[in-house]
Amino acid sequence: LKHFLTTEDLSRELLTEILDTADSFISTQERSVKKVPLLRGKTVVNLFFENSTRTRSTFELAAKRLSADILNLDIARSATSKGETLMDTLWNLEAMYSDMFVVRHADSGAAHFIAEQVTPNVAIINAGDGRHAHPTQAMLDMLTIRRHKQQIEGQIVAIVGDILHSRVARSQIHALKTLGAAEVRVIGPATLLPRDIDSLGAKAFYRMEDGLKDCDVVIMLRLQKERMQNALLPSESEFFKLYGLTEQKLALAKPDAIVMHPGPINRGVEIESAVADGSQSVILNQVSYGIAVRMAVMAMAMSGQQGGEDNL
Ligand code: CP
Repeated sequence: LKHFLTTEDLSRELLTEILDTADSFISTQERSVKKVPLLRGKTVVNLFFENSTRTRSTFELAAKRLSADILNLDIARSATSKGETLMDTLWNLEAMYSDMFVVRHADSGAAHFIAEQVTPNVAIINAGDGRHAHPTQAMLDMLTIRRHKQQIEGQIVAIVGDILHSRVARSQIHALKTLGAAEVRVIGPATLLPRDIDSLGAKAFYRMEDGLKDCDVVIMLRLQKERMQNALLPSESEFFKLYGLTEQKLALAKPDAIVMHPGPINRGVEIESAVADGSQSVILNQVSYGIAVRMAVMAMAMSGQQGGEDNL
Protein backbone atom coordinates (compact mmCIF):
# COMPACT_ATOMS: atom_id res chain seq x y z
CA LEU A 1 0.00 0.00 0.00
CA LYS A 2 1.03 3.62 -0.56
CA HIS A 3 -2.39 5.08 0.13
CA PHE A 4 -5.57 3.43 1.43
CA LEU A 5 -8.50 4.99 -0.41
CA THR A 6 -11.04 2.23 -1.09
CA THR A 7 -11.62 -1.51 -0.71
CA GLU A 8 -12.65 -1.71 -4.37
CA ASP A 9 -10.28 -3.61 -6.66
CA LEU A 10 -7.93 -4.59 -3.84
CA SER A 11 -6.88 -8.24 -3.92
CA ARG A 12 -8.06 -10.91 -1.51
CA GLU A 13 -4.40 -11.37 -0.47
CA LEU A 14 -3.98 -7.70 0.42
CA LEU A 15 -7.27 -7.53 2.39
CA THR A 16 -6.31 -10.72 4.21
CA GLU A 17 -2.87 -9.29 5.01
CA ILE A 18 -4.57 -6.24 6.60
CA LEU A 19 -6.72 -8.54 8.75
CA ASP A 20 -3.78 -10.77 9.72
CA THR A 21 -1.64 -7.75 10.60
CA ALA A 22 -4.49 -6.31 12.71
CA ASP A 23 -4.88 -9.66 14.47
CA SER A 24 -1.18 -9.62 15.35
CA PHE A 25 -1.65 -6.30 17.22
CA ILE A 26 -4.47 -7.58 19.47
CA SER A 27 -3.25 -9.01 22.76
CA THR A 28 -4.43 -12.49 23.63
CA GLN A 29 -6.62 -11.24 26.48
CA GLU A 30 -8.43 -8.94 23.98
CA ARG A 31 -8.25 -6.11 26.48
CA SER A 32 -5.70 -4.04 24.58
CA VAL A 33 -3.59 -3.56 21.49
CA LYS A 34 0.20 -3.78 21.65
CA LYS A 35 2.44 -0.71 21.54
CA VAL A 36 4.99 -1.13 18.74
CA PRO A 37 7.70 1.16 17.32
CA LEU A 38 6.71 0.80 13.63
CA LEU A 39 5.96 4.53 13.07
CA ARG A 40 8.47 6.03 15.51
CA GLY A 41 9.66 9.40 14.18
CA LYS A 42 6.70 9.67 11.77
CA THR A 43 4.06 12.42 11.88
CA VAL A 44 0.40 11.64 11.25
CA VAL A 45 -2.19 14.42 10.77
CA ASN A 46 -5.89 13.78 11.42
CA LEU A 47 -7.87 15.99 9.02
CA PHE A 48 -11.56 15.65 9.75
CA PHE A 49 -13.65 18.06 7.69
CA GLU A 50 -16.75 16.13 8.88
CA ASN A 51 -17.62 15.17 12.46
CA SER A 52 -16.52 11.87 13.94
CA THR A 53 -16.31 10.11 17.29
CA ARG A 54 -15.12 6.56 16.54
CA THR A 55 -12.94 6.97 13.45
CA ARG A 56 -11.03 10.03 14.60
CA SER A 57 -10.43 8.67 18.13
CA THR A 58 -9.33 5.23 16.99
CA PHE A 59 -6.98 6.67 14.35
CA GLU A 60 -5.42 8.79 17.10
CA LEU A 61 -5.08 5.81 19.45
CA ALA A 62 -3.75 3.66 16.59
CA ALA A 63 -1.08 6.24 15.68
CA LYS A 64 -0.02 6.45 19.33
CA ARG A 65 0.14 2.63 19.60
CA LEU A 66 2.44 2.71 16.53
CA SER A 67 4.63 5.29 18.36
CA ALA A 68 3.93 8.06 15.79
CA ASP A 69 3.42 11.74 16.62
CA ILE A 70 -0.17 12.75 15.83
CA LEU A 71 -1.65 16.16 15.18
CA ASN A 72 -5.44 16.61 15.24
CA LEU A 73 -6.13 19.68 13.14
CA ASP A 74 -9.12 21.57 14.54
CA ILE A 75 -10.74 22.45 11.21
CA ALA A 76 -13.30 24.82 12.75
CA ARG A 77 -10.47 26.93 14.25
CA SER A 78 -8.10 26.57 11.29
CA ALA A 79 -7.32 29.20 8.66
CA THR A 80 -9.79 27.54 6.28
CA SER A 81 -12.33 29.92 7.91
CA LYS A 82 -10.21 32.83 6.53
CA GLY A 83 -10.54 31.58 2.97
CA GLU A 84 -7.52 29.29 2.70
CA THR A 85 -8.14 26.51 0.17
CA LEU A 86 -8.04 22.83 1.03
CA MET A 87 -4.82 22.29 -0.93
CA ASP A 88 -3.07 25.32 0.57
CA THR A 89 -3.95 23.94 4.01
CA LEU A 90 -2.53 20.55 3.06
CA TRP A 91 0.65 21.91 1.45
CA ASN A 92 1.31 23.90 4.65
CA LEU A 93 0.82 20.79 6.77
CA GLU A 94 3.12 18.88 4.38
CA ALA A 95 5.79 21.55 5.01
CA MET A 96 5.67 20.55 8.71
CA TYR A 97 7.29 17.21 7.70
CA SER A 98 4.03 15.25 7.78
CA ASP A 99 4.22 11.63 6.65
CA MET A 100 0.52 10.74 6.57
CA PHE A 101 -2.85 12.48 6.29
CA VAL A 102 -5.97 10.74 7.58
CA VAL A 103 -8.78 12.50 5.71
CA ARG A 104 -12.55 12.63 6.21
CA HIS A 105 -14.47 14.89 3.87
CA ALA A 106 -18.11 15.36 2.82
CA ASP A 107 -17.23 15.22 -0.90
CA SER A 108 -16.99 11.85 -2.64
CA GLY A 109 -13.55 11.55 -4.22
CA ALA A 110 -11.84 13.99 -1.82
CA ALA A 111 -9.26 11.46 -0.62
CA HIS A 112 -8.36 10.44 -4.21
CA PHE A 113 -8.02 14.09 -5.19
CA ILE A 114 -5.71 14.82 -2.26
CA ALA A 115 -3.61 11.70 -2.97
CA GLU A 116 -3.01 13.00 -6.49
CA GLN A 117 -1.98 16.47 -5.27
CA VAL A 118 0.37 15.81 -2.35
CA THR A 119 4.04 14.92 -2.74
CA PRO A 120 4.58 11.19 -3.27
CA ASN A 121 6.11 10.60 0.16
CA VAL A 122 2.88 11.53 2.04
CA ALA A 123 0.45 8.63 2.52
CA ILE A 124 -3.29 9.35 2.38
CA ILE A 125 -5.74 7.24 4.36
CA ASN A 126 -9.42 7.69 3.51
CA ALA A 127 -11.45 8.05 6.73
CA GLY A 128 -14.71 8.49 4.78
CA ASP A 129 -15.47 10.54 1.65
CA GLY A 130 -19.05 11.57 0.97
CA ARG A 131 -21.17 8.56 0.10
CA HIS A 132 -18.26 6.91 -1.76
CA ALA A 133 -16.06 4.88 0.60
CA HIS A 134 -15.10 4.25 4.22
CA PRO A 135 -12.49 1.53 3.75
CA THR A 136 -11.07 1.25 7.28
CA GLN A 137 -14.63 0.89 8.65
CA ALA A 138 -15.23 -1.96 6.19
CA MET A 139 -11.98 -3.65 7.22
CA LEU A 140 -12.75 -3.44 10.95
CA ASP A 141 -16.15 -4.94 10.09
CA MET A 142 -14.40 -7.78 8.22
CA LEU A 143 -12.18 -8.38 11.26
CA THR A 144 -15.25 -8.44 13.52
CA ILE A 145 -16.93 -11.05 11.31
CA ARG A 146 -13.76 -13.14 11.07
CA ARG A 147 -13.15 -13.09 14.83
CA HIS A 148 -16.77 -13.98 15.68
CA LYS A 149 -17.52 -16.39 12.83
CA GLN A 150 -13.97 -17.75 12.28
CA GLN A 151 -14.14 -16.98 8.55
CA ILE A 152 -15.83 -14.67 6.05
CA GLU A 153 -16.10 -17.36 3.35
CA GLY A 154 -19.57 -18.86 3.27
CA GLN A 155 -21.32 -16.26 5.46
CA ILE A 156 -24.70 -14.81 4.48
CA VAL A 157 -24.57 -11.11 5.32
CA ALA A 158 -27.49 -8.64 5.27
CA ILE A 159 -26.90 -4.88 5.27
CA VAL A 160 -30.07 -3.07 6.29
CA GLY A 161 -31.39 0.48 5.93
CA ASP A 162 -30.08 3.50 4.06
CA ILE A 163 -27.70 1.83 1.60
CA LEU A 164 -28.00 4.62 -0.99
CA HIS A 165 -26.19 7.25 1.07
CA SER A 166 -23.83 4.85 2.83
CA ARG A 167 -20.09 4.89 2.10
CA VAL A 168 -19.81 2.10 4.68
CA ALA A 169 -22.16 -0.23 2.75
CA ARG A 170 -20.24 0.27 -0.53
CA SER A 171 -16.90 -0.49 1.09
CA GLN A 172 -18.37 -3.47 2.97
CA ILE A 173 -19.90 -4.97 -0.19
CA HIS A 174 -16.57 -4.78 -2.07
CA ALA A 175 -14.66 -6.34 0.83
CA LEU A 176 -17.26 -9.07 1.51
CA LYS A 177 -17.36 -10.10 -2.17
CA THR A 178 -13.56 -10.19 -2.44
CA LEU A 179 -13.20 -12.14 0.81
CA GLY A 180 -15.69 -14.81 -0.30
CA ALA A 181 -18.96 -14.17 1.56
CA ALA A 182 -21.59 -16.63 0.28
CA GLU A 183 -24.23 -13.92 -0.21
CA VAL A 184 -24.42 -10.18 0.37
CA ARG A 185 -27.96 -8.89 0.75
CA VAL A 186 -29.17 -5.32 1.07
CA ILE A 187 -32.56 -4.68 2.67
CA GLY A 188 -34.41 -1.38 2.55
CA PRO A 189 -37.07 0.67 0.80
CA ALA A 190 -36.49 1.06 -2.96
CA THR A 191 -35.85 4.80 -2.41
CA LEU A 192 -32.83 3.97 -0.22
CA LEU A 193 -31.22 1.26 -2.38
CA PRO A 194 -28.72 2.22 -5.11
CA ARG A 195 -29.77 1.48 -8.70
CA ASP A 196 -26.43 -0.24 -9.40
CA ILE A 197 -26.82 -2.74 -6.56
CA ASP A 198 -26.77 -5.78 -8.91
CA SER A 199 -23.50 -4.67 -10.49
CA LEU A 200 -21.99 -4.44 -7.00
CA GLY A 201 -22.83 -8.12 -6.57
CA ALA A 202 -25.44 -7.71 -3.81
CA LYS A 203 -29.03 -8.95 -3.82
CA ALA A 204 -31.84 -6.47 -3.06
CA PHE A 205 -34.69 -7.24 -0.65
CA TYR A 206 -37.50 -4.86 0.23
CA ARG A 207 -38.89 -6.70 3.27
CA MET A 208 -37.03 -7.72 6.43
CA GLU A 209 -39.08 -10.95 6.51
CA ASP A 210 -37.49 -12.02 3.19
CA GLY A 211 -33.97 -10.63 3.55
CA LEU A 212 -33.13 -11.68 7.12
CA LYS A 213 -33.98 -15.36 6.62
CA ASP A 214 -30.95 -17.59 7.37
CA CYS A 215 -28.50 -14.69 7.77
CA ASP A 216 -25.26 -15.16 9.74
CA VAL A 217 -24.51 -11.45 10.03
CA VAL A 218 -26.94 -8.51 10.22
CA ILE A 219 -25.43 -5.05 9.71
CA MET A 220 -27.72 -2.12 10.53
CA LEU A 221 -27.19 1.39 9.13
CA ARG A 222 -28.62 4.73 10.23
CA LEU A 223 -30.59 7.10 7.99
CA GLN A 224 -27.91 9.52 6.75
CA LYS A 225 -30.05 12.63 6.59
CA GLU A 226 -27.02 14.89 6.09
CA ARG A 227 -26.50 13.30 2.65
CA MET A 228 -30.16 13.16 1.55
CA GLN A 229 -31.50 15.54 -1.03
CA ASN A 230 -35.20 15.23 -1.76
CA ALA A 231 -35.18 11.52 -0.85
CA LEU A 232 -38.64 10.01 -0.53
CA LEU A 233 -38.45 8.96 3.06
CA PRO A 234 -40.80 7.24 5.46
CA SER A 235 -41.12 8.93 8.87
CA GLU A 236 -38.78 7.59 11.59
CA SER A 237 -41.64 5.67 13.22
CA GLU A 238 -42.71 4.14 9.88
CA PHE A 239 -39.06 3.28 9.13
CA PHE A 240 -38.70 1.57 12.52
CA LYS A 241 -41.89 -0.41 11.97
CA LEU A 242 -40.71 -1.70 8.57
CA TYR A 243 -36.92 -1.85 8.88
CA GLY A 244 -36.01 -1.30 12.55
CA LEU A 245 -34.26 -4.34 14.02
CA THR A 246 -36.28 -5.76 16.91
CA GLU A 247 -35.80 -9.04 18.79
CA GLN A 248 -38.77 -10.38 16.83
CA LYS A 249 -37.23 -9.57 13.43
CA LEU A 250 -33.77 -10.77 14.50
CA ALA A 251 -35.33 -14.19 15.22
CA LEU A 252 -35.71 -14.56 11.41
CA ALA A 253 -31.91 -14.79 11.07
CA LYS A 254 -29.88 -17.78 12.23
CA PRO A 255 -29.99 -18.23 16.04
CA ASP A 256 -26.26 -17.48 16.31
CA ALA A 257 -26.35 -14.45 13.96
CA ILE A 258 -24.32 -11.46 15.06
CA VAL A 259 -25.64 -7.88 14.94
CA MET A 260 -23.34 -5.08 13.78
CA HIS A 261 -23.63 -1.32 13.29
CA PRO A 262 -20.84 1.11 12.31
CA GLY A 263 -22.31 3.80 14.60
CA PRO A 264 -23.54 6.27 15.48
CA ILE A 265 -26.71 4.31 16.32
CA ASN A 266 -30.14 5.90 16.46
CA ARG A 267 -32.02 3.85 19.04
CA GLY A 268 -35.67 3.37 18.15
CA VAL A 269 -35.11 4.32 14.50
CA GLU A 270 -33.01 1.55 12.89
CA ILE A 271 -32.46 -0.61 15.98
CA GLU A 272 -34.17 -1.14 19.33
CA SER A 273 -32.10 -0.99 22.52
CA ALA A 274 -32.86 -4.61 23.45
CA VAL A 275 -30.99 -5.68 20.27
CA ALA A 276 -28.25 -3.03 20.32
CA ASP A 277 -27.37 -3.98 23.91
CA GLY A 278 -28.34 -7.66 23.56
CA SER A 279 -26.26 -10.85 23.57
CA GLN A 280 -25.98 -11.04 19.75
CA SER A 281 -24.68 -7.49 19.41
CA VAL A 282 -20.96 -7.02 18.63
CA ILE A 283 -21.27 -3.28 18.04
CA LEU A 284 -18.74 -2.25 20.69
CA ASN A 285 -16.33 -5.03 19.59
CA GLN A 286 -16.31 -3.34 16.17
CA VAL A 287 -15.10 -0.14 17.82
CA SER A 288 -12.32 -1.96 19.70
CA TYR A 289 -11.11 -3.74 16.55
CA GLY A 290 -10.96 -0.37 14.80
CA ILE A 291 -7.72 0.45 16.63
CA ALA A 292 -5.85 -2.66 15.43
CA VAL A 293 -7.20 -2.38 11.87
CA ARG A 294 -6.17 1.27 11.61
CA MET A 295 -2.74 0.38 13.00
CA ALA A 296 -2.41 -2.28 10.29
CA VAL A 297 -3.45 0.07 7.48
CA MET A 298 -1.15 2.87 8.67
CA ALA A 299 1.82 0.53 9.13
CA MET A 300 1.31 -1.05 5.70
CA ALA A 301 0.88 2.34 3.99
CA MET A 302 4.05 3.64 5.61
CA SER A 303 6.06 0.63 4.52
CA GLY A 304 4.51 1.03 1.02
CA GLN A 305 5.83 4.59 0.95
CA GLN A 306 9.25 3.07 1.40
CA GLY A 307 8.99 0.94 -1.75
CA GLY A 308 5.92 -1.32 -1.60
CA GLU A 309 2.96 -1.92 -3.88
CA ASP A 310 1.05 1.14 -5.14
CA ASN A 311 -2.70 0.81 -4.57
CA LEU A 312 -3.77 4.28 -5.59
N1 CP B 1 -18.48 4.64 11.98
C1 CP B 1 -18.04 5.91 11.93
O1 CP B 1 -17.47 6.37 10.92
O2 CP B 1 -18.29 6.63 13.08
P1 CP B 1 -17.81 8.13 13.31
O3 CP B 1 -18.60 9.01 12.40
O4 CP B 1 -18.07 8.42 14.77
O5 CP B 1 -16.34 8.20 12.98
